[in-house]
Amino acid sequence: MKTASFGLIGVGVMGGALALNIADKGHDISLYNLDESTVDDLIANAADLAPRLTKTTSVAELVANLAAPRAIILLVPAGKPVDLSIEELVKYLEPGDTIIDGGNSDYKDTQKRTIAVEKLGFNYLGVGVSGGEEGARNGPSMMVGGSPSAWEPIQPVFESIAAKFKGQPCVAHLGEGGAGHFIKTVHNGIEYADMQAIAEVYGLLRDGEKQSAAHISEVFEQWNKGVLNSYLTEISAKILAAVDSETGNAMIDMIVDKAGQKGTGRWTVVEAVRMGQNASVIEAALGARVSSAEKDFREAVEPVLGRTQSMEIDFDRADLESALLVARIIGYAQGFRILRAASDEFDWKLDYAAIAEVWREGCIIRSALLDDIAAAYRTELPRGRLILDPTFAALLAKHEGGLRRTVAKAISAGLPVPVLSGAISWFDQSRKARGTANMIQGQRDFFGAHGFRRVDKEGDFHGNW
Ligand code: 6PG
Repeated sequence: MKTASFGLIGVGVMGGALALNIADKGHDISLYNLDESTVDDLIANAADLAPRLTKTTSVAELVANLAAPRAIILLVPAGKPVDLSIEELVKYLEPGDTIIDGGNSDYKDTQKRTIAVEKLGFNYLGVGVSGGEEGARNGPSMMVGGSPSAWEPIQPVFESIAAKFKGQPCVAHLGEGGAGHFIKTVHNGIEYADMQAIAEVYGLLRDGEKQSAAHISEVFEQWNKGVLNSYLTEISAKILAAVDSETGNAMIDMIVDKAGQKGTGRWTVVEAVRMGQNASVIEAALGARVSSAEKDFREAVEPVLGRTQSMEIDFDRADLESALLVARIIGYAQGFRILRAASDEFDWKLDYAAIAEVWREGCIIRSALLDDIAAAYRTELPRGRLILDPTFAALLAKHEGGLRRTVAKAISAGLPVPVLSGAISWFDQSRKARGTANMIQGQRDFFGAHGFRRVDKEGDFHGNW
């Protein structure tokens, strides 16, 4: 099997960084971008990598420039631009050539595109790429979906450019069709939950304790040396430490409290709901992001219903650390439950340990926990559930009290903690063998004669209401 020769369509921030990474590993790459000046700039600034980069001015020229088997990576915005690129590409490809969509595409689109492109005799891979610009340049984490035979000629180059965890490349073929993009979507759902949990703890220290950004930065920096070690903990400490050169204020204090989103977090929640999975912490993070964007509404409510908190309140540092740890574990646990449901539905036969391994370096949700998660999934997990793994069960038992005390304090002070409170509620609900849905069943039977099952005998029953 010959290694493919590479082309790239879409030389934006991510595309440019990935092209340099590929060139850096000794591979030639041809580039095409609608706005040619970005390719000119990239090559002009590529120093000794420039000879490996070739500018082309049309898709036809890009394809003609590559030896078969060709691999053309698309790094264009998700949606229509991907379809338009494919439409143009297939006019010039030969059997054995492969189109690789490296954007944040909706997995359902990837499923359809795979079928359509394969029907024309070409290969199609949907690859989730995580790690932002820095990752794309120095080693992203990549989640590959598509046919194993399409992956073979691509594998050596992708393994060379991927992030490495103890020498092991953080890229793997994880399933057929849209599996790679689905896994990336869930990665982003987990990302939303972890980011929001961090933002909530930042809020408790800022609004509860009235701490400065510099102080909170030190707290996060300290936490990053322990169980909370992760990329998101690390960058949060750095963000809090940054100073705005224009005003001399902490940069974080100059940023408007409205967050945008491109859709992957929402897709995770939509898919979880569609498959009947409880993704409460991811859902809470999405809800918080939506509420953040409604600043006008919050500004109108505050003078009417009062500020949420005015008195100073102290939070125990160890409890806050525990709170973040438990929320993070539950975010991962809910993400893996969604992956399991999708694997069953689409018969992807996902290898959860391999997914955790790919996430150990390069991606946004990389953390010290992921190696343990991979190890847990390599064993026969009780009922296949992460929180039943002895290591994780012990961690949860040790730290749940910290989360509980943090949430209780925050709520009594009127400080919003949707993800942290969602995490403790999910934890409590999950470990309660006898819940309260007997009441729901009673209500359903009362108003709609839906029937219920009894605790003492088999069958379907109705109450004598
Ligand atoms: C990554 C990121 C990356 C991007 C998201 C942000 O893994 O590298 O997740 O894909 O930053 O698209 O998504 P939102 O715009 O929805 O926050």
